[in-house]
Amino acid sequence: MIWTIRRLDGVADRASFQSTSNELNSWLAKQANQAQKKRLASVFIASPVDQPTCIAGYYSLAPWQIAFEQAPVKVTKRLPRYPLATALLARLAVDQSFQGQGLGGVLLIDALKRIHLAAQSVPVQVALVHAKDDAAAAFYRRYGFEPFADEPLHLFMAMGTVEQLFAD
Ligand SMILES: CC(C)(COP(=O)(O)OP(=O)(O)OC[C@H]1O[C@@H](n2cnc3c(N)ncnc32)[C@H](O)[C@@H]1OP(=O)(O)O)[C@@H](O)C(=O)NCCC(=O)NCCS
Repeated sequence: MIWTIRRLDGVADRASFQSTSNELNSWLAKQANQAQKKRLASVFIASPVDQPTCIAGYYSLAPWQIAFEQAPVKVTKRLPRYPLATALLARLAVDQSFQGQGLGGVLLIDALKRIHLAAQSVPVQVALVHAKDDAAAAFYRRYGFEPFADEPLHLFMAMGTVEQLFAD
């Protein structure tokens, strides 16, 4: 399958999206548009190349901040003791009819690429993900995200690692 990934627009059929998570389906149908309009989050959707109205998967990115003391030592080493600016991958879901075809992985890499490119203009220290449950956390760990010691559903990847992924 060939996917196109673009920012959420008025063409896409948000109401028909059905992942296994009611919460993520409902957020896309009812809140994603407003969140994007209010600049609280950017939402990116994947469609099969010949079906632009179909949303096969989506993710959202948002700015986030964590306290210096909360951040992993490997990230804060040699940094001043200020809160850390981060890019948060807050949601990621694939429609049930498209699961198991690699789209979740494609969306995750696309999100990291966008964080990498954005960070060249407005730097952040880490990419964060908030996993909704243990299975989601396991999905992220496969790609190199590390859990916070005190909050295993919150995972991070240092920007140095993100940069290495996309090094020429
Ligand atoms: C998690 C989710 C996004 C994965 O999407 P997908 O398109 O089915 O995943 P992919 O086909 O890209 O799988 C990529 C790899 O991750 C693995 N994987 C998929 N789901 C996994 C899970 N829950 N736990 C561990 N590994 C998982 C796959 O086996 C695959 O590995 P492989 O490359 O060795 O075959 C999808 O199942 C989903 O939408 N779940 C409900 C919402 C959710 O949990 N979102 C997560 C963030 S809150």
